Amino acid sequence: MGKKELAVEVQALKKSFGTKEVLKGLDLSIERGTVYGVLGPNGAGKTTLVNILSTLLRPDGGSLRIFGLDVVRESDAVRRKIGLTGQFAAVDEELSGRDNLVLFSRLAGYSHRAAAARAEQLLAAFNLLEAADRPAEKYSGGMRRRLDIAAAMLVAPELLFLDEPTTGLDPRSRNDVWDIVRFLAEQGTTVLLTTQYLEEADQLADRLAVIDRGVVIAEGTPSELKASVGSGKIMIRLAHPHQRSEAEHVLRRVLHTDVRLYADPTALSAQTTDARQAAAALTELAAAGIETAQFSLGQPSLDEVFLALTGKAVQEEGLEEGMV
Ligand SMILES: Nc1ncnc2c1ncn2[C@@H]1O[C@H](COP(=O)(O)OP(=O)(O)OP(=O)(O)O)[C@@H](O)[C@H]1O
Ligand SMILES: [Mg+2]
Repeated sequence: MGKKELAVEVQALKKSFGTKEVLKGLDLSIERGTVYGVLGPNGAGKTTLVNILSTLLRPDGGSLRIFGLDVVRESDAVRRKIGLTGQFAAVDEELSGRDNLVLFSRLAGYSHRAAAARAEQLLAAFNLLEAADRPAEKYSGGMRRRLDIAAAMLVAPELLFLDEPTTGLDPRSRNDVWDIVRFLAEQGTTVLLTTQYLEEADQLADRLAVIDRGVVIAEGTPSELKASVGSGKIMIRLAHPHQRSEAEHVLRRVLHTDVRLYADPTALSAQTTDARQAAAALTELAAAGIETAQFSLGQPSLDEVFLALTGKAVQEEGLEEGMV
């Protein structure tokens, strides 16, 4: 077997709901032991894909394998290899965090005693000991997401699905979840994660696919994708607003690109393809006696990725169907 082992192999996957075609021949390959990001806007088909792979929904067509097993015909064997935390997980709201984890452990086949021990271990690992006896409905968004992931990994799955694990979380909780994903990946779990944030995919994923209306429109490493998008923006705030037009000239000369001016009279930005170019621009500003108070290198947003890949902005769902 010279070929690298595939955790997930999807070919020509199709799924419709009524007359609405949601997945239109989607292809995806994920190597074992990697973190794979599926990036797409609302309604792109991310949750549908995850639900089909995790055997919760039946596909209409195409071939689907998880660790070589046929997802439709060998769904029981597939279920033993996967963990799932959905956008809306199955945690019992009225039970405490601890009781939820014990219950999930019992369902996963642990003895009473082993279940209690495993629950303690997960509560500690996910920093939930303090909140362990509170009902899940009283948890903050971040605590809740950690509990969801803890519940999903009770059986230490070989493949874990995380459907938008950080949507709606504050930056700190988002970082906690990122740490957990990295921890899982180090343990050898293959992770398929869906997200609407390019930055998240960039932080976590070895490779990623961008999906739009049920097909993959780009695939590769985060750097490949960003390079193809001509990514990156240098954002500058000047110490003195009267130097802005001079700064604008310098940036245009060094970066050969359009410069954007903001309502804040000290702020301007320009597209740049790499960090060295950005550094050169800063050096030139200093040499011209222009004082910068602040600068940052930003990543393109999902909107910018879509614009670059499709020439169109992200389409709001519903508009295409003439809904209001
Ligand atoms: N059970 C269903 N019945 C009918 N339509 C559905 C069903 N599930 C999903 N859809 C439709 O399929 C499309 C894709 O939905 P899906 O939930 O997979 O998107 P998503 O990429 O997960 O979006 P989000 O980022 O909002 O979670 C949407 O147009 C949605 O309305
Ligand atoms: Mg979804």
